[in-house]
Amino acid sequence: MPNSGLTAIELRSLTKKFDDVVAVDNFDVIIRKGEFFSLLGPSGCGKTTTLRVIAGLEIPTEGSVLLENQDVTRIPAYKRNINTVFQDYALFPHMNVKKNIFFPMKMKKVKMDDAGPRIQKVLRLVNMEGFETRLPQQLSGGQRQRIALARSLVNEPAALLLDEPLGALDFKLRIAMQKVLKDIQRNVGITFVYVTHDQTEAMTMSDRIAVMKGGLVHQIGSPDEIYNEPASAFVASFIGDMNFLNGKILKIGEKEDHAEVSGNSVRTRKTKTILNRGDDILLCIRSERVLLNPGKSLPDNLIKSRLKRIVFRGVDFEATCEFNGSEIRAVVGAAFWDHSLKEGDIVRIGFNFDDVVVFPRSEEKDVIKYSAEAV
Ligand SMILES: Nc1ncnc2c1ncn2[C@@H]1O[C@H](COP(=O)(O)OP(=O)(O)OP(=O)(O)O)[C@@H](O)[C@H]1O
Ligand SMILES: [Mg+2]
Repeated sequence: MPNSGLTAIELRSLTKKFDDVVAVDNFDVIIRKGEFFSLLGPSGCGKTTTLRVIAGLEIPTEGSVLLENQDVTRIPAYKRNINTVFQDYALFPHMNVKKNIFFPMKMKKVKMDDAGPRIQKVLRLVNMEGFETRLPQQLSGGQRQRIALARSLVNEPAALLLDEPLGALDFKLRIAMQKVLKDIQRNVGITFVYVTHDQTEAMTMSDRIAVMKGGLVHQIGSPDEIYNEPASAFVASFIGDMNFLNGKILKIGEKEDHAEVSGNSVRTRKTKTILNRGDDILLCIRSERVLLNPGKSLPDNLIKSRLKRIVFRGVDFEATCEFNGSEIRAVVGAAFWDHSLKEGDIVRIGFNFDDVVVFPRSEEKDVIKYSAEAV
């Protein structure tokens, strides 16, 4: 985690409207120097628009953009010391690798002779030495994206904005490139603002993540905070594999609350929202936190249920359990799976009160569902 404490980019009450569409709604953030900061959210939530406003390609409707504490809201893109990398790498097809990387320096009137060492340095950084004379069409997708990255780094920008830079790559290459990108970012120490709608990508690469929906920022936090302390039901549903159960508040306690779920009393974490007895709520429990037939040390909550469905997924098993009309999924590592279990069995499911996060039921409309019922 960068701790220089210096500000790279600041957004103040940033709003961008296109006619009556609010693409970005009152976004406030301070991004630190050297930070890997991601914008994460579903399609249309305003990620690209935020990036374009930072780059200077869009003028905000309200609010301001500061780069290294200087207000640049009205400063054109080419005068900002930042660079953008897009998904489609946009290399010049008729120029070889060396000329492609030289291009931004040429714009800044650096001579080819002086540029040589800088080109070599960025090629080394992206591990592409020896490819100088190749044309883009003679490179693989991952190699092209590395060259695009080298080109965006060669003028040593204060910050790099990346809009789904790995989106066009296949799954395995994307995973490999995530590591390459993260290593490069660490080595050069440049601030990255990274746009993705892939939650795993954001979680594994970022120092902090802003989770957005419909132009609104729901939460800004470290991957740990976003995962374990989701600020809204939307964030809880967008990241990781979450169970959502309907319930009602039974009792407000000092350290924990009690809720009623399909005739069971369930101990829950205290909410940040003020809730009262009788309020309708959503209970969120990570599927990997649900235990099946727990043994010696019993969890805070135990519910008798019927094992409705077992799915083997390679690394783990997903068990869907049912009790009085409620469903809950438990994900169990394949090595820990009890092979005597079968569909229709009566089991006990268990989970601790601290693993139950509660939101008002009114947030149910924001929950992203991946289950079959959502299709
Ligand atoms: N130039 C434009 N004119 C009108 N509406 C626009 C324009 N650009 C974006 N929008 C709208 O603003 C909203 C946010 O778009 P944006 O491109 O920022 O989303 P995104 O989060 O990048 O989505 P994706 O993941 O699909 O790339 C959308 O509703 C989009 O239709
Ligand atoms: Mg986009």
